Amino acid sequence: MSRMRLAFKALPLVAAVVLAGCVSLEIAAPRVETLPLLPSGGNRVQLEQGRTIYITKCAKCHSPEPVHRYTSSQWDVILPDMIGETNLDTAESAAVSAYVYAVLGQ
Ligand code: HEC
Repeated sequence: MSRMRLAFKALPLVAAVVLAGCVSLEIAAPRVETLPLLPSGGNRVQLEQGRTIYITKCAKCHSPEPVHRYTSSQWDVILPDMIGETNLDTAESAAVSAYVYAVLGQ
């Protein structure tokens, strides 16, 4: 079989893997526009920044943890610990915290 045909056959598999990766990321760390509007109105710019940090800087040592896997009182303990691991500045820390609690609906 030629290389070309092999590559062609592998394409749907590659596409499926990439797609599955996107879907699971959206479940682990939902996009800001999918979040319910918060009573406070929320600061969307800050939440976007928070999500970006969550899926990049927070995913350096492990894959992004699904936010809903932990309760908000567990996050109260996890976040300060993990923010320390990540060396975030004050604004970044506030953004990632705001994002996590927004996903939890708070
Ligand atoms: C320097 C590496 C590193 C970075 C950066 C990092 N983590 Fe972690 N994370 C770990 C390790 C190691 C564990 C497991 C052991 C532990 O709990 O300390 C963990 C565990 C977790 C857990 C599982 C709960 C738990 O306490 O076991 C969550 C949730 C988590 N991290 C979220 C985050 C978030 C959110 C960020 C960004 C603010 C982040 N992590 C950044 C290393 C990291």
